[in-house]
Amino acid sequence: MKIIIINGPNLNLLGTREPGIYGSSNFDNYYQLWKEKYPSVSFEYFQSNHEGQLIDKLHADGFSADGIILNAGAYTHTSLALADAIAAITSPVIEVHISNVYAREAFRHHSYLAKNCKGVICGFGLDSYRLAIEYLLAI
Ligand code: DQA
Repeated sequence: MKIIIINGPNLNLLGTREPGIYGSSNFDNYYQLWKEKYPSVSFEYFQSNHEGQLIDKLHADGFSADGIILNAGAYTHTSLALADAIAAITSPVIEVHISNVYAREAFRHHSYLAKNCKGVICGFGLDSYRLAIEYLLAI
């Protein structure tokens, strides 16, 4: 079982970025925990602040991975190109968000990506990613 976790812009700053919204845990601590909790899963983690690199990563793994967990950050709300990339690949993509985007500014309520994803999980902090892993293990 191969699961790719892809984080988009500004998510490299988790732990220090707006901790009131995104928490004060750094991503790597959670990632290590998931690797221990799910030893049967082969995880890969990729983060980029660049839209084209996120698209290249989806193309590279989107025909072989068993699942892709994607937090595209603000590109969720702006990127037709990422939406098209998700539509073009065959691996199921789960859109995740740390914060509850529906409890925030109106511009965060719309996702260009969601309709091309298997589903969306948001608002559970970094546990949103674990819930997506649980889904992929169950299918
Ligand atoms: C986010 C929500 C987005 O609106 C925001 O631009 C992010 C993070 C989240 O995980 O809650 O960068 O995707």
